[in-house]
Amino acid sequence: MKLFIENLPKAELHLHIEGSFEPSLMFKIAERNKIEIPFNSIEEIEKAYNFNCLQDFLDIYYQSANVLIKEQDFYDLTYSYLEKCAAQNVRHTEIMFDPQTHTKRGVSFKTVIDGITKACEAAEENIGVTSLLIMSYLRHLSEEDAFKTLKESIPFKNKITAVGLDSSEQGNPPSKFKNVFEASVNEGYIPVAHAGEEGPAAYVWEAIDILGIKRIDHGNNCLQDESLIKEIVKRDMALTICPLSNTSLHVVDDLKNHPLKKMLDLGLKATINSDDPAYFGGQVNRNYIEIQKALNLSKSDLYLLAQNSFKYSLLNEDKKQQYL
Ligand code: HPA
Ligand code: ZN
Repeated sequence: MKLFIENLPKAELHLHIEGSFEPSLMFKIAERNKIEIPFNSIEEIEKAYNFNCLQDFLDIYYQSANVLIKEQDFYDLTYSYLEKCAAQNVRHTEIMFDPQTHTKRGVSFKTVIDGITKACEAAEENIGVTSLLIMSYLRHLSEEDAFKTLKESIPFKNKITAVGLDSSEQGNPPSKFKNVFEASVNEGYIPVAHAGEEGPAAYVWEAIDILGIKRIDHGNNCLQDESLIKEIVKRDMALTICPLSNTSLHVVDDLKNHPLKKMLDLGLKATINSDDPAYFGGQVNRNYIEIQKALNLSKSDLYLLAQNSFKYSLLNEDKKQQYL
């Protein structure tokens, strides 16, 4: 099964580039930028990666991003992730980035996007991995702040395919971002959002009805509402499921109780993703391997999940056909 998974061509649809920041690269960049980090060794960092909930993780995730200052830092971060894609037979990836995490610290939007896009272009040329970008708004900040980010993105519009919504879900419903999503769609960005990870099914409804999202990031809690499940199936929307993220953040208590198989049985279009691989104990292939073992998934289940990853990508139809 491991070999089958490793050889399976796949796409990754839910990945935060800041969450791919491996401790070894973090030390290297901190050193060259002469920034102190509150850890003395990789082992110390790994020990700190023990989370009780989403917020626990987010606190450390934003802190780690502080060492990213220069275009080269964003380039190295992104290229290093794309090399891992190539090694795992991930042929295409849809990368989320959080501009506000960086612009809040005085790093310019241009520095962030130039570093990331140059790495994406080089990786496509050198190692054949295609990618597109999803600019994610931080939902713990105001809608006004998201509007500022939207405005900053306009000169780089041709480099960005979609907008997303991430960070602390509880207490920050999708409806808070109604206007900025509407404006983003008017600029040509495709809307997606994290919903139903820690938040209730009602937040998934809002993301669909109010933000008009085309794909649901996580979406686990849709299972609490039968009419919502029916609606998602009817609309043929995919869920980007992240098994190791779910157990790391206690969204699911044990992989053996993960609802992935149930989702497939209900006709929901699930995909497998790593979310923040440097923090949650595994890249995409490890997610496939662990969930296969826990739920005893068949080869045809795995094939379906990989097919879904291409079918529900945000690539245009012509490009999608090259992978299907
Ligand atoms: N949920 C919300 N925000 C995030 C996540 C996540 O899983 N990863 C990075 N930012
Ligand atoms: Zn995520």
